[in-house]
Amino acid sequence: MNGMERISSFIDSYIEDDEGLLNEILSEAIKNRVPVIRKASKEFLRTQLLIKEPENILEIGTAVGYSSLYMSNYIKPNSKITTIELDEERANLALENIKKLGKEEVIRVIKGDACKVLKTLPDASYDFLFVDAAKGQYINYYEEIIRAAAKNAVIISDNVLQDGEILESHYTVEKRNRTIHDRMREYLYKITHDKRVCTSILSIGDGMTVTIKLSD
Ligand SMILES: C[S@@+](CC[C@H](N)C(=O)[O-])C[C@H]1O[C@@H](n2cnc3c(N)ncnc32)[C@H](O)[C@@H]1O
Repeated sequence: MNGMERISSFIDSYIEDDEGLLNEILSEAIKNRVPVIRKASKEFLRTQLLIKEPENILEIGTAVGYSSLYMSNYIKPNSKITTIELDEERANLALENIKKLGKEEVIRVIKGDACKVLKTLPDASYDFLFVDAAKGQYINYYEEIIRAAAKNAVIISDNVLQDGEILESHYTVEKRNRTIHDRMREYLYKITHDKRVCTSILSIGDGMTVTIKLSD
Protein backbone atom coordinates (compact mmCIF):
# COMPACT_ATOMS: atom_id res chain seq x y z
CA MET A 1 0.00 0.00 0.00
CA ASN A 2 1.32 3.46 -0.82
CA GLY A 3 0.87 6.50 1.45
CA MET A 4 -2.40 7.63 -0.14
CA GLU A 5 -3.91 4.14 0.02
CA ARG A 6 -3.01 3.89 3.70
CA ILE A 7 -4.63 7.26 4.40
CA SER A 8 -7.76 6.19 2.46
CA SER A 9 -8.11 2.92 4.32
CA PHE A 10 -7.54 4.75 7.63
CA ILE A 11 -10.34 7.22 6.78
CA ASP A 12 -12.61 4.39 5.54
CA SER A 13 -12.18 2.54 8.83
CA TYR A 14 -14.23 5.31 10.52
CA ILE A 15 -17.13 5.05 8.07
CA GLU A 16 -20.00 2.81 9.07
CA ASP A 17 -21.44 0.31 6.60
CA ASP A 18 -24.96 0.80 5.27
CA GLU A 19 -27.70 -1.23 6.80
CA GLY A 20 -30.02 -3.91 5.39
CA LEU A 21 -31.02 -3.92 1.74
CA LEU A 22 -28.82 -0.99 0.78
CA ASN A 23 -25.78 -2.87 2.02
CA GLU A 24 -26.89 -5.94 0.05
CA ILE A 25 -27.24 -3.83 -3.12
CA LEU A 26 -23.73 -2.48 -2.58
CA SER A 27 -22.25 -5.96 -1.97
CA GLU A 28 -23.99 -7.34 -5.05
CA ALA A 29 -22.69 -4.44 -7.17
CA ILE A 30 -19.13 -4.97 -5.93
CA LYS A 31 -19.42 -8.74 -6.52
CA ASN A 32 -20.54 -8.09 -10.11
CA ARG A 33 -17.81 -5.51 -10.67
CA VAL A 34 -20.26 -2.66 -11.15
CA PRO A 35 -18.46 0.60 -10.36
CA VAL A 36 -19.95 2.34 -7.32
CA ILE A 37 -19.09 5.43 -5.31
CA ARG A 38 -16.28 4.98 -2.77
CA LYS A 39 -16.89 5.05 0.97
CA ALA A 40 -15.28 8.41 1.73
CA SER A 41 -16.89 9.98 -1.34
CA LYS A 42 -20.40 8.96 -0.34
CA GLU A 43 -19.81 10.30 3.16
CA PHE A 44 -18.79 13.60 1.61
CA LEU A 45 -21.89 13.56 -0.59
CA ARG A 46 -23.98 13.02 2.51
CA THR A 47 -22.52 16.05 4.30
CA GLN A 48 -23.11 18.21 1.22
CA LEU A 49 -26.73 17.06 0.95
CA LEU A 50 -27.32 17.83 4.61
CA ILE A 51 -25.82 21.32 4.22
CA LYS A 52 -27.60 22.18 0.98
CA GLU A 53 -30.97 20.49 1.64
CA PRO A 54 -31.72 20.31 -2.10
CA GLU A 55 -35.17 19.82 -3.57
CA ASN A 56 -34.27 18.61 -7.02
CA ILE A 57 -31.25 16.37 -7.52
CA LEU A 58 -29.77 15.23 -10.81
CA GLU A 59 -27.35 12.33 -11.03
CA ILE A 60 -25.46 11.40 -14.19
CA GLY A 61 -24.44 7.71 -13.97
CA THR A 62 -26.96 5.58 -12.05
CA ALA A 63 -25.26 2.18 -12.42
CA VAL A 64 -27.53 -0.07 -10.29
CA GLY A 65 -28.97 2.79 -8.25
CA TYR A 66 -26.73 2.53 -5.22
CA SER A 67 -25.69 6.20 -4.94
CA SER A 68 -29.23 7.43 -5.69
CA LEU A 69 -30.62 5.17 -2.99
CA TYR A 70 -27.90 6.27 -0.60
CA MET A 71 -28.61 9.96 -1.33
CA SER A 72 -32.34 9.42 -0.90
CA ASN A 73 -31.71 8.77 2.82
CA TYR A 74 -30.36 12.29 3.32
CA ILE A 75 -32.87 14.48 1.53
CA LYS A 76 -36.08 16.16 2.67
CA PRO A 77 -39.36 14.21 2.33
CA ASN A 78 -40.56 16.02 -0.82
CA SER A 79 -37.22 16.18 -2.60
CA LYS A 80 -36.72 14.21 -5.81
CA ILE A 81 -33.80 12.54 -7.56
CA THR A 82 -33.53 12.14 -11.34
CA THR A 83 -30.77 9.82 -12.47
CA ILE A 84 -29.50 9.02 -15.97
CA GLU A 85 -28.02 5.67 -17.08
CA LEU A 86 -26.87 4.61 -20.53
CA ASP A 87 -26.61 0.87 -19.93
CA GLU A 88 -30.07 -0.70 -20.27
CA GLU A 89 -29.31 -3.72 -18.08
CA ARG A 90 -27.94 -1.54 -15.26
CA ALA A 91 -30.84 0.88 -15.54
CA ASN A 92 -33.30 -2.03 -15.21
CA LEU A 93 -31.45 -3.35 -12.18
CA ALA A 94 -31.55 0.13 -10.68
CA LEU A 95 -35.33 0.22 -11.17
CA GLU A 96 -35.61 -3.15 -9.42
CA ASN A 97 -33.45 -1.96 -6.53
CA ILE A 98 -35.41 1.27 -6.22
CA LYS A 99 -38.61 -0.78 -6.04
CA LYS A 100 -37.13 -3.11 -3.41
CA LEU A 101 -36.48 -0.10 -1.18
CA GLY A 102 -39.87 1.48 -1.96
CA LYS A 103 -38.30 4.64 -3.42
CA GLU A 104 -40.23 4.74 -6.73
CA GLU A 105 -41.83 8.07 -5.79
CA VAL A 106 -38.45 9.63 -4.95
CA ILE A 107 -36.07 8.40 -7.66
CA ARG A 108 -36.75 8.62 -11.39
CA VAL A 109 -34.41 6.73 -13.73
CA ILE A 110 -33.98 8.03 -17.27
CA LYS A 111 -32.45 5.47 -19.64
CA GLY A 112 -30.20 6.98 -22.26
CA ASP A 113 -27.01 8.79 -23.11
CA ALA A 114 -26.51 11.75 -20.79
CA CYS A 115 -25.20 13.79 -23.73
CA LYS A 116 -28.67 13.57 -25.28
CA VAL A 117 -30.85 13.33 -22.16
CA LEU A 118 -29.33 16.44 -20.57
CA LYS A 119 -30.52 18.53 -23.53
CA THR A 120 -34.14 17.56 -22.75
CA LEU A 121 -34.01 18.71 -19.12
CA PRO A 122 -35.47 22.10 -18.15
CA ASP A 123 -33.32 25.19 -17.51
CA ALA A 124 -32.15 26.13 -14.00
CA SER A 125 -34.13 23.37 -12.32
CA TYR A 126 -31.68 21.26 -10.28
CA ASP A 127 -30.10 22.53 -7.08
CA PHE A 128 -27.78 19.55 -6.51
CA LEU A 129 -26.02 17.60 -9.26
CA PHE A 130 -23.82 14.54 -8.98
CA VAL A 131 -21.70 13.77 -12.03
CA ASP A 132 -20.49 10.15 -12.00
CA ALA A 133 -20.58 8.75 -15.54
CA ALA A 134 -17.96 8.32 -18.30
CA LYS A 135 -14.90 10.22 -17.12
CA GLY A 136 -13.84 11.34 -20.58
CA GLN A 137 -17.26 12.90 -21.16
CA TYR A 138 -17.57 15.30 -18.25
CA ILE A 139 -16.35 18.12 -20.46
CA ASN A 140 -19.12 17.28 -22.98
CA TYR A 141 -21.82 17.38 -20.31
CA TYR A 142 -20.58 20.64 -18.86
CA GLU A 143 -22.58 23.31 -20.74
CA GLU A 144 -25.82 21.37 -20.34
CA ILE A 145 -25.11 20.84 -16.65
CA ILE A 146 -24.62 24.58 -16.18
CA ARG A 147 -27.84 25.28 -18.08
CA ALA A 148 -29.87 22.75 -16.05
CA ALA A 149 -28.38 23.88 -12.72
CA ALA A 150 -30.19 26.52 -10.67
CA LYS A 151 -28.32 29.55 -9.31
CA ASN A 152 -26.24 28.47 -6.27
CA ALA A 153 -26.62 24.81 -7.23
CA VAL A 154 -23.96 22.45 -5.89
CA ILE A 155 -22.36 20.30 -8.60
CA ILE A 156 -20.22 17.41 -7.40
CA SER A 157 -18.10 15.46 -9.87
CA ASP A 158 -16.53 12.14 -8.91
CA ASN A 159 -13.38 10.27 -9.98
CA VAL A 160 -11.62 13.40 -11.21
CA LEU A 161 -8.11 12.31 -10.14
CA GLN A 162 -8.19 8.80 -11.61
CA ASP A 163 -6.29 7.23 -8.70
CA GLY A 164 -3.62 9.89 -9.12
CA GLU A 165 -2.84 8.80 -12.69
CA ILE A 166 -4.05 12.16 -13.95
CA LEU A 167 -0.86 13.64 -12.47
CA GLU A 168 1.35 11.52 -14.70
CA SER A 169 2.87 12.79 -17.90
CA HIS A 170 0.76 12.27 -21.04
CA TYR A 171 3.42 9.87 -22.38
CA THR A 172 3.82 7.64 -19.32
CA VAL A 173 0.09 6.86 -19.13
CA GLU A 174 -1.23 3.78 -20.95
CA LYS A 175 -2.36 4.85 -24.39
CA ARG A 176 -6.05 4.04 -23.92
CA ASN A 177 -6.20 6.23 -20.81
CA ARG A 178 -4.44 9.23 -22.36
CA THR A 179 -7.52 10.70 -23.98
CA ILE A 180 -9.61 10.24 -20.85
CA HIS A 181 -6.96 11.93 -18.74
CA ASP A 182 -6.48 14.78 -21.21
CA ARG A 183 -10.22 15.38 -21.26
CA MET A 184 -10.46 15.22 -17.47
CA ARG A 185 -7.66 17.80 -17.20
CA GLU A 186 -9.58 19.94 -19.69
CA TYR A 187 -12.69 19.60 -17.50
CA LEU A 188 -10.75 20.54 -14.36
CA TYR A 189 -9.31 23.58 -16.12
CA LYS A 190 -12.73 24.63 -17.32
CA ILE A 191 -14.48 24.37 -13.95
CA THR A 192 -11.66 26.14 -12.12
CA HIS A 193 -11.44 29.03 -14.62
CA ASP A 194 -15.06 29.56 -15.71
CA LYS A 195 -16.29 32.78 -14.06
CA ARG A 196 -19.86 31.44 -13.90
CA VAL A 197 -18.82 28.93 -11.24
CA CYS A 198 -16.59 28.51 -8.21
CA THR A 199 -14.81 25.14 -7.78
CA SER A 200 -12.72 23.27 -5.25
CA ILE A 201 -10.79 20.12 -6.17
CA LEU A 202 -10.60 17.61 -3.32
CA SER A 203 -8.54 14.44 -2.95
CA ILE A 204 -11.41 12.51 -1.37
CA GLY A 205 -11.83 8.94 -2.66
CA ASP A 206 -10.81 8.99 -6.29
CA GLY A 207 -10.88 12.79 -6.37
CA MET A 208 -13.98 14.95 -6.29
CA THR A 209 -14.83 18.51 -7.23
CA VAL A 210 -17.40 20.77 -5.64
CA THR A 211 -18.64 23.47 -7.98
CA ILE A 212 -21.13 26.19 -7.15
CA LYS A 213 -23.03 27.81 -10.00
CA LEU A 214 -22.81 31.57 -9.53
CA SER A 215 -24.51 32.80 -12.72
CA ASP A 216 -25.79 31.68 -16.15
C1 LIG B 1 -19.24 4.97 -11.82
S1 LIG B 1 -20.70 4.31 -12.47
C2 LIG B 1 -21.95 5.11 -11.53
C3 LIG B 1 -21.97 4.64 -10.10
C4 LIG B 1 -23.16 5.15 -9.32
N1 LIG B 1 -23.25 6.58 -9.34
C5 LIG B 1 -23.04 4.67 -7.88
O1 LIG B 1 -22.16 5.19 -7.17
O2 LIG B 1 -23.81 3.78 -7.49
C6 LIG B 1 -20.85 5.14 -14.01
C7 LIG B 1 -22.09 4.79 -14.78
O3 LIG B 1 -22.24 5.74 -15.82
C8 LIG B 1 -22.81 5.09 -16.93
N2 LIG B 1 -22.54 5.91 -18.13
C9 LIG B 1 -21.41 5.96 -18.86
N3 LIG B 1 -21.56 6.84 -19.87
C10 LIG B 1 -22.80 7.33 -19.77
C11 LIG B 1 -23.54 8.27 -20.54
N4 LIG B 1 -23.02 8.86 -21.62
N5 LIG B 1 -24.81 8.53 -20.16
C12 LIG B 1 -25.35 7.95 -19.07
N6 LIG B 1 -24.70 7.06 -18.30
C13 LIG B 1 -23.44 6.76 -18.66
C14 LIG B 1 -22.13 3.73 -16.95
O4 LIG B 1 -22.90 2.79 -17.67
C15 LIG B 1 -22.02 3.43 -15.46
O5 LIG B 1 -23.08 2.61 -15.02
